[in-house]
Amino acid sequence: MENFKHLPEPFRIRVVEPVKRTTRQYREQAIIKAGMNPFLLDSDDVFIDLLTDSGTGSITQNMQAAMFRGDEAYSGSRSFYALADAVKDIFGYALTIPTHQGRGAEQLYIPVLIKKREKEKGLDRSKMVALSNYFFDTTQGHTQINGCRIQNVHSNDAFNTSVDSDFKGNFDTDKLETAIIAAGAENVPYIVNTITCNSAGGQPVSIANMKAVYNIARKYEIPVIMDSARFAENAYFIQQRESGYQDQSIESITREMYQYADGLAMSAKKDAMVQMGGLLCFKDESMADVYQECRTLCVVQEGFPTYGGLEGGAMERLAVGLYDGMRQDWLAYRISQVRYLVEGLEQIGVCCQQAGGHAAFVDAGKLLPHIPASQFPAHALACELYKVAGIRAVEIGSLLLGRDPQTGQQLPCPAELLRLTIPRATYTQTHMDFIIEAFSHVKENAPKIKGLTFTYEPDVLRHFTARLTETDTNG
Ligand code: F0G
Repeated sequence: MENFKHLPEPFRIRVVEPVKRTTRQYREQAIIKAGMNPFLLDSDDVFIDLLTDSGTGSITQNMQAAMFRGDEAYSGSRSFYALADAVKDIFGYALTIPTHQGRGAEQLYIPVLIKKREKEKGLDRSKMVALSNYFFDTTQGHTQINGCRIQNVHSNDAFNTSVDSDFKGNFDTDKLETAIIAAGAENVPYIVNTITCNSAGGQPVSIANMKAVYNIARKYEIPVIMDSARFAENAYFIQQRESGYQDQSIESITREMYQYADGLAMSAKKDAMVQMGGLLCFKDESMADVYQECRTLCVVQEGFPTYGGLEGGAMERLAVGLYDGMRQDWLAYRISQVRYLVEGLEQIGVCCQQAGGHAAFVDAGKLLPHIPASQFPAHALACELYKVAGIRAVEIGSLLLGRDPQTGQQLPCPAELLRLTIPRATYTQTHMDFIIEAFSHVKENAPKIKGLTFTYEPDVLRHFTARLTETDTNG
């Protein structure tokens, strides 16, 4: 098989879920009913669901089987130890708290780390700023509701869809250090290293960059938390692209990556392949006080700390999923599927961010130049794509970024992207071809697509529940 051009799906599909086909007229009504917000559509009305790869993929037979081993004890569950052992083995981290999903981990470590600075150094949290290569929206949200500002210190090319580079998810380490000095190191409660960098297009971070960031953080005594949703995809890119790693396994690269952080927060619904689950883990005793505080908070927020937000069976499933998600042939297939979609779209003249890990990111700003950022071109594109083909995708642009909570002004967004997120082992190459064909229809009609304005705008995480309407004019 080595010389074949295309790698077919390295699995057999034994369970299938039927989907409904709808007419254009039906979809036009459905999207209006949903307030021109694909998040508010019923899944039954969606033909190909590319909203997210979070908890929406297939799971493996081994994961399914593991569920039956669940020990549902309220405390000290055997399944908790199975999970903590897997974490120790894979990441080398000694202290584990299961959580119901990624944001469950965030609601524990974020307030704890901010409060620690406040208590130990007598600081005012309104002067604090947390730093990241790019904060995922819930990580940003948790930081902000805890009264701390955020700043993204991504590399210059991260959002430039005309530029390709191996590690577009990297921190700009000069900007990182400048930001630390400007804020005063004691005012930086944590640095979040998001791997892969979701908002920048599933772009990886190199080991060299992780190491450099960690060295800077240690110099200024700031803890680094690895936002680990897509850790295995990041390890795969390192193996393929970073010199010195070609002969290393995904497992050994993963182990090395995690030396360059003090803790990890994980949405296990992505690379660990579970429908629901998360992790908050710390490397060693140097984080024991933070771990202890997080466990205390866990009791009130998530559940007793040996189950967090998860049932015993779900912890067993996650312990297996962490390993299954690191399979070499699996990752090679997954990344090539995304690349196939991106190349197909580029061939018909739809500009995309360089192919990353979990999704194709279409540059809606370029496809719909007549719609200003204030009228959300990528969101307008999402609505059009749904009308044309029943495909549901998600805006990663101004709508998602939102307003500065202190000034109320829209934050300037580096790019208006539409994310076509590929659930794991769920859609085939025929689906990719269908998506590309749908875009050729969208492209024909592009100049007539209208911008959007709010009829309802929530204060936080507005993209989930906002309702919008088309503007009267084009753009
Ligand atoms: N961090 C990253 C990098 C994420 O991509 C996500 C979720 C989270 C944290 C929060 O985790 O959803 O389990 O609570 N991303 C999903 C997505 C929702 O569609 O990209 P969660």
